[in-house]
Amino acid sequence: MAKIKLLPSPPAGLRPQPKRPEDPAVDDQPKDLVKEAGVSAAAWVDERTSLSGTVRWVMFRPIPKGTNWFYTLGTATMVAFINQVITGVVLAMYYDPSVTHAYESMKYINNEVFLGEFIHGMHRWGSTVMVILVFLHMARTFFFGAYKYPRELNWIVGVALLVLTLVMSVTGYLLPFDQRAYWASVVAMNIGGNAPLLGPFTPPAALGGPDVTTVTLSRFYAIHMMIIPGLIIGLISAHLYLVIKLGTSAPPWVRADKVGGDLKEHDA
Ligand code: HEM
Repeated sequence: MAKIKLLPSPPAGLRPQPKRPEDPAVDDQPKDLVKEAGVSAAAWVDERTSLSGTVRWVMFRPIPKGTNWFYTLGTATMVAFINQVITGVVLAMYYDPSVTHAYESMKYINNEVFLGEFIHGMHRWGSTVMVILVFLHMARTFFFGAYKYPRELNWIVGVALLVLTLVMSVTGYLLPFDQRAYWASVVAMNIGGNAPLLGPFTPPAALGGPDVTTVTLSRFYAIHMMIIPGLIIGLISAHLYLVIKLGTSAPPWVRADKVGGDLKEHDA
């Protein structure tokens, strides 16, 4: 007979505790009233959406034995991305993507806007942090063999995320439109232009002409602000769906112990 797959249950601490007659009556304490209100609100939403099953599927997953701190690198990359989105939206409120005003608007953000320099710094350093984390996360999945069956598709989605993260760095670097930004973009395009086959077509397509001009700045801004973040959000959603669907892989040394033994579906 086919076995019915049950949803994982929440950890013991989160499960509602049955009340016994001998329990002290603490229900009228402010803490209990707040808890009760939270439970009622969640139940109200769940009755209308049936989302609790999905939340349990996403949140309360079994994880393989041997899971360690290296498994946090994917989530750390995601946190770095969220930081980029939040600080980027704030910067966009003041930034002007035109060759005549871009530099001035960055100066304004750094010198006049409340916490502007801090937000700009968070965005600038955050981009470096995200690139470092994405490489570390990729190295973890590579060295732990997490790219193997059945996770090949997640590796491919990851490669797309890596490329998009690097495109974010290249397009973002031009935006302050100072000397460093300008010449760094020229150098990046010259490097890209020397790539085999498609190389010679890349700089004119990316720059919107033979040189870095106002067209390039608007183009990089649109790519940096809308196209790539949209794609990254879509691909992270697909990536996480696959992580939840397939479960995370066990470290190779745990898998090696189990070869020929009782390897469970989730230990693969
Ligand atoms: C924006 C970039 C990325 C984000 C936010 C991200 C996020 C995550 C998260 C949260 C996990 C689950 C936890 C973990 O194993 O760390 C994960 C797993 C995974 N990621 Fe990524 N990732 C990114 C890029 C990449 C890249 C560049 C690759 C490889 C080319 C990759 C390949 C994988 C694989 C194969 C897994 C499954 C790991 C396992 O089952 O043990 N990811 N990712």
